[in-house]
Amino acid sequence: MEISSAKFVKSSVGIQDCPPPVLPEYAFIGRSNVGKSSLINSLTRRGKLAKTSSTPGKTQLINHFLINRSWYLTDLPGFGFAKVPVAIKKGWEGMIRNYLDKRPNLMCTFLLVDIRHKPLANDLEFMRWMGAQGLPFYVVCTKADKLSKARLEANLKDYREVLAGEWEPLPPIIVSSSETGLGREDILGVIGSSNPGFRTPQG
Ligand code: GTP
Ligand code: MG
Repeated sequence: MEISSAKFVKSSVGIQDCPPPVLPEYAFIGRSNVGKSSLINSLTRRGKLAKTSSTPGKTQLINHFLINRSWYLTDLPGFGFAKVPVAIKKGWEGMIRNYLDKRPNLMCTFLLVDIRHKPLANDLEFMRWMGAQGLPFYVVCTKADKLSKARLEANLKDYREVLAGEWEPLPPIIVSSSETGLGREDILGVIGSSNPGFRTPQG
């Protein structure tokens, strides 16, 4: 799929504030600093569309981007960001879960995980919660460029093994790098194939 236009729409503090749910929408979620904003920039090939930072906690609101004037990408705040007070962290998490659970035009969510590390309890718990709500998601393994081919394969094998302990079948996994563009076509393919299935919430 070609991306011919990409435009920032707005930042929202919660679901009540989001743009009207009349276009298909795809959300990017994951621990702070995992590379959500970078991936949105890589998908759209617009380096400065979503603000990125090496300091975790850069994205603090729900950010909507309108793509090809026909669908939305949303950049969500990272969960598990250690440097904000617990009350704020809980507030963000409640806001994010409420958005994921209630947003009627959300087609699917991409959960980003850093493939350099072992599966995090937070991420596994989040997957369980998504499964329990019946919300479709893909696991996107980011920063693949930071590992050798052999290391990447070994980490992917370990990751799948952990997931296999609780998932049958496994959630779909996409390996990505915002540096090299690895996985870009896969993610855009997922989006492109589910776009035509969109029905407005009114039916
Ligand atoms: P928050 O907004 O804090 O939740 O973080 P985020 O998940 O949006 O992460 P962001 O995209 O800001 O990236 C964090 C850091 O990781 C930045 O320094 C990026 O340049 C770097 N980064 C992100 N993706 C990749 C990748 O695929 N490869 C490499 N090498 N670095 C990456
Ligand atoms: Mg971000």
